[in-house]
Parts: sequence; C-alpha cells; structure tokens
Amino acid sequence: MASVPSLASSVNQRVADALASALPEAGATDPLLRRSDRADFQANGILALAKKAKANPRELAADVVGAIPTGDLIQEIEVSGPGFLNITITDRAIIETLAARAADDRLGVPYAQNAGTTVIDYAQPNVAKEMHVGHLRSAVIGAAMVEILEFTGEKVIRRHHIGDWGTQFGMLIQYLLEHPHELDHKADGGEEVSGEEAMSNLNRLYKASRALFDSDEEFKTRARARVVDLQAGDPETLAMWQRFVDESKIYFYSVFHKLDMDIQDPDVVGESGYNDMLAETCKLLEDSGVAVRSNGALCVFFDEYKGPDGNPTPLIVQKSDGGFGYAATDLSAIRNRVGELKADTLIYVVDARQSLHFKMVFETARRAGWLNDGVKAVQLAFGTVLGKDGKPFKTREGETVRLVDLLDEAVERATAVVREKSEKIGLSEEEIVSNGQYVGIGAVKYADLSTSAGRDYKFDLDQMVSLTGDTSVYLQYAYARNRSILRKAGETRPVAHPELALAPAERALGLHIDQFGEVVADAAAEYAPHKVAAFLFQLATLYSTFFDQCPVLKADTAEQMENRLFLCDLTARTLTKGMALLGIRTPERL
Ligand code: ARG
Repeated sequence: MASVPSLASSVNQRVADALASALPEAGATDPLLRRSDRADFQANGILALAKKAKANPRELAADVVGAIPTGDLIQEIEVSGPGFLNITITDRAIIETLAARAADDRLGVPYAQNAGTTVIDYAQPNVAKEMHVGHLRSAVIGAAMVEILEFTGEKVIRRHHIGDWGTQFGMLIQYLLEHPHELDHKADGGEEVSGEEAMSNLNRLYKASRALFDSDEEFKTRARARVVDLQAGDPETLAMWQRFVDESKIYFYSVFHKLDMDIQDPDVVGESGYNDMLAETCKLLEDSGVAVRSNGALCVFFDEYKGPDGNPTPLIVQKSDGGFGYAATDLSAIRNRVGELKADTLIYVVDARQSLHFKMVFETARRAGWLNDGVKAVQLAFGTVLGKDGKPFKTREGETVRLVDLLDEAVERATAVVREKSEKIGLSEEEIVSNGQYVGIGAVKYADLSTSAGRDYKFDLDQMVSLTGDTSVYLQYAYARNRSILRKAGETRPVAHPELALAPAERALGLHIDQFGEVVADAAAEYAPHKVAAFLFQLATLYSTFFDQCPVLKADTAEQMENRLFLCDLTARTLTKGMALLGIRTPERL
C-alpha cells in the first residue's frame, strides 16, 4: 500500500482548509484550531485577524459561520465568547478520515516537506568503562529521535561517538604490553566472551594498571611515552589499543542488546575516528585567527563565557604539551559530518552538563565557517537521573549505579508482574520470559521518554512497572487487550461504516487517533519524543473509556461491531507504531 497524502489529511487540516476558503482575506493567518471540550474544535484565529483588519471580531466570526457550508465535514459551527468559533465535526467525516488513514501503511502520516540529512550523535559510552544511567538516556532518547526522524522521511546518519581515545590509554596499553596474556581469551579456555566477562576483564586490567601507575614511577614514565606512540600511530601500540576497543565493544553490544537496540558497527565512529584530522583542524583554526596561543595552549575565547573569577573561560583545542582534547575531536567531527556526510542538521544527545562545551564548539565552528546558515547544530541536552531521594542516582555506597544491574532488575520486576497475570490467559514460560523483557525494558525507556528530555527524572522501578498511570505497561496492556478482542471477533473483521452514528467515546477516540501525524511532525521538529509518549498515553486512556462505554463484541448491530472493531484495529496499529518509534515492543498477548 502506498501512502496517500491527499486522502490522509487530518480532520484538523480539513477544517482549517474549510475556514480558509470561507475567509479568503485571512490568507496565511493561522486559524489557531485547537481540540476543545465544548465542541470538537475551537478556532481562535479570528481575534487576531479582526484586530489586524480593525473589524468587530464577533461580526467577522458570524461572517465565517455564514460562509461555511455544513453537511459533509462540519455539523455545527457557532460563534462563542469574543469571537471564537466552536466547531463540531460530523460522525461521517471522522470515520471517513480514519478509513483513509487505515488504508495507508504509514497510517496517513505524511512525509516532511523539507526532509534533509541529519547526523545524530547518541549512545556514546567510553571504552574500558562501565556504562551508567547517563549513557542510558543518550541511547534511549537518541534511538527514539532516529525512528521519529526517519519516519518523517529524513535521512538519518547515526554516529556513536564513543570515548576511545586519550591519555588514559597509555597506561592501559603499556600494562597490556607488559602482561600480554591478560586479555587472551583462548588461553583461559573460553572462546566466546560474554559482555559481563568482557567488562570484568577490563575492570581488572584498569585496576591493575592504575595501581602500577600510582606506585611505580618507571611504569608511569613508560605509560606516558606510550600515549605519544599511540597518537603517532605506532602499529604495535595501535594493535594493543584495538584489543581494548574490541573487548569494550563486546560489552557495549551486550548492553545495547539488553536494551533491545540495534547498534551497527559502521556507525560506531569514536573519538579516534577523527585522529587524522586533529592537527589540520588546529592549524586551520590558528591560521584563521579563530584560535590563539595562550600559555602554550591553543585556545578560542568568548566574551560571554567567564569563569567564577571573572576571567574568560576558553575552549582549549590543543593543550600546551601538544595533546589534543575532546574539543579538537568534536570540531573535527563537525568538519566530517558537514563536509563529507553533507548533513544539514547535527544533533548531539548529550548530558546537559556538557552544554557549555557544545555552545563553545558550535560557536567556534561557526567562526571557522564549518557551520554556516544552512546547517543547524543542536544539543538535545538531557537532565540527570535521580534516585528516589531526589539526589543524583547512586548506590548506597555512593557509587555510580551499573546500567546492567538496573536493566536486570527492571526485567526481573516486570517478569513478576507479567507472571502474576499470565495464568488467566495461559502464557507459556517462554512467553512470560520474553514479555518480561519487553515490559521491563519498555518501562525503563518509557519513563525516560515520557518526561521532556531537559528535565531530571526519578528512577523509580516500582512506579515504572505499575499497571496504572502513565507507564509503558499500561500502554502494552491496552494494546494486548485490544488484540484479544480482535481475536475473539472471529470471522467478523474491522470495517469502517461512515453512515453510523457515533457514541461520544468513539468520537473522542477517533479524533485523537487522527492527530497522530501532527504529533509525529511536532516531535520531529522539536526533537521532543515525549510528545509521542503523551499522545500514546492519551490514546490508551481514550481507548479504555471507549472499551468501557461501547461494547464491541456485543454491539447492537453487525455494522456497529465492524465499525468498533475498525476503531480497535486502528488504535492497535497506532499504538504499535507509536511505541516502535520509542523503541518499545507491544506483545500480542500479555
Ligand atoms: N563519551 C561521552 C561521555 O560519556 C559522550 C560523548 C558525546 N558526544 C560528543 N560528540 N562529544 O560523556
């Protein structure tokens, strides 16, 4: 089935068009059409228009009412208050519009008109380090943005900017060179190493090398010299470095797998991927005067960024010892992403605590001409994950919580919830286990995505796997219940019947489903996956009211049953698609 954009215009769009033709002098003025409690929609745009035309708003509104034909689309239109329009849609128009959506495999969601190329930087853990909740947020929010943008037709290039470069590798590599068998998997009998084992190997090596580094001056000197070899591309050093990266990747991929996320190797382009560009980036900045030498370091200064002492805080591109830092890598990455990958949008899904870094990096890139007016660079900054006590999430011992432990616990709790309910519907043990994963991981993702990214949120597993309230489990149950009705309907299939009169709960559900396309467009334009989450929660809530008030299997007539099944089916498809945009699965039986 192809997308049929002309048929798939929403009721909202159709009303806006009708208003525009009733009042041609309004031109491109926004009718400010909103869903309303009093009628289906309220249009508030007349007020601004009247002001501009120095007309009486109520009179102008009355003119519109007179010029709008009622019948097919609009059942009733009346002036209210100072010049608002209250608009009620016909039952027929609701079902017809939905039928057009249902006939389209994109559910009538149009492609964006101005689609371009976005490079999105997300899910960027650090080599030889444990992943924590900050990495979870970047991964979850980034993956949702990828799906949402791709759904609107944007070309999306993923970049996992992993921390795989820097001075800390000197110590690790030197240690491994001196103890070559410590990462030798064949030697310890195992062929395949699990993610957990990989991480524990890395932890062990990290601790051992750190201990040596702190206690042995000669090792320290050798480790420092090793950093120079690494940056110079010495083959033996690079080979050892590669072993750390590979071991870490085993671990990263195991965590991403747990998260039900598909991360592809070619998209993992870490800091090291820009190593060859660093010297040139610095030279270009220095030659153009964008960066200047200050106490030996290459710095970019800004009037607006000052430290607590009032002195300017520069962006340090190259340290006085010649080493390149985080900023040099990010600036080189911009050159690559705009120059080679031809991106017109760059998104960085990174902790809000790195905001100053990105402001300075973007500004530097603009001064250098690597970012111009045709390219938008944004940090999709996310807030901190807090514990139940409202403080940054830590273990009781004050340590960073391991992401894997959290995910395992979420799955464990979810499995208990699923198991408790499973008897009634006779789930097999296998289904209980896989549902437990979908529910547990879904709970973690949804809790993250249902709050707007910039805000902090509390990591509270009890709340996350609760069956009531704004949780993914609630949505997953709404979906499964819906599917069970469709199964029970047997031979009777969903069929749209525009000739039928609708109950209020049917109208409310239908008009809500109809907004899916606009919600996706907004979420894409504003980088706001929480808008999709809010839409889905409202959808499940309206569906639940519909379910209580409108018998489906015991409907009055065969046509009514078919029409209600049609609403069920479209709700289910919208839920599955919406949840998939958020990276969450909807099991058929739960
Ligand atoms: N690896 C970094 C961290 O763990 C995040 C990288 C963000 N991306 C970037 N292009 N700087 O904090």
